[in-house]
Amino acid sequence: MKVTIVGAGAVGASCAEYIAIKDFASEIVLLDIKEGVAEGKAMDLMQTASLNGFDSKIVGVTNDYSKTAGSDVVVITSGIPRKPGMTREELIGINANIVKEVSSNLVKNSPNTVMIVVSNPMDTMTYLVHKTTGLPKSKIIGMGGALDSARFKYNLSQALECPPSDVDGMVLGGHSDTGMIPLSRLATRNSVPVSAFLSEERLNQVAEDTKVGGATLTKLLGTSAWYAPGAAVSALVQAIACDQKKMFPCSALLEGEYGLNDLCIGVPVILGKDGLEKIVEIELNDAEKAKMKESAEGVKKTNAMLTL
Ligand code: 2OP
Repeated sequence: MKVTIVGAGAVGASCAEYIAIKDFASEIVLLDIKEGVAEGKAMDLMQTASLNGFDSKIVGVTNDYSKTAGSDVVVITSGIPRKPGMTREELIGINANIVKEVSSNLVKNSPNTVMIVVSNPMDTMTYLVHKTTGLPKSKIIGMGGALDSARFKYNLSQALECPPSDVDGMVLGGHSDTGMIPLSRLATRNSVPVSAFLSEERLNQVAEDTKVGGATLTKLLGTSAWYAPGAAVSALVQAIACDQKKMFPCSALLEGEYGLNDLCIGVPVILGKDGLEKIVEIELNDAEKAKMKESAEGVKKTNAMLTL
């Protein structure tokens, strides 16, 4: 199993670290345009192998796509991250050109790969990768929902005063401060609906904190987060690499599912060796359906800024 990660910044490197520690990939290629950065981070990570007990080989390269050839999964983290006060949508101008170039270089070298898009604005960048590469719908997913759901579970656990592992829940919709839809109605603590423990007001607060989860961290860190994004990507890569058939909310190209068409947005999907093996259509109530429609309108507005 060969995995390529483009972008050796904080998210790319943390993703490589988590994948290495889980030890399911034979080779991890880290590629960056900045001379020496990917090589340096790969070497630093390889020096943790004997300490952390993994056998994955991590190779760093400067913009040499031939080294990515034959990758089973590729992850695109390239582009600029947001600064405090910025929305993800404001990154579109710079990141669209980068993502277009990166995805065409990747597909030339790995025509059968599964692509995971992390660059922001993520739903629009995922849509752009579909338009650029022409890969089948099952081969391209965007990482947002897995991260937003992890943040949702963390926020619920804080409110419930319990460990995050006690909590289950999903966030659907666009990966943006206004587009996320934390599904509080379906969230549980060990199968018990969280509404049995938390008031509606508290649950609304948890949902709002989740929607601005990335922005809160950007304000604290001065740049966007990397540990949870890296861990979320590594979970998706593992589900594909190990054919786990796990369900995650991911940005997927919709063709009628959830009543939506011609956009990528967060919905539950099953991930296995073929990539996105199935879109799961769960029954949403009227309020959730309305939120999904509104979120899709937001994503479409950002998509309209693309020159395809
Ligand atoms: C986030 O931290 C990377 O968009 C990303 O939410």
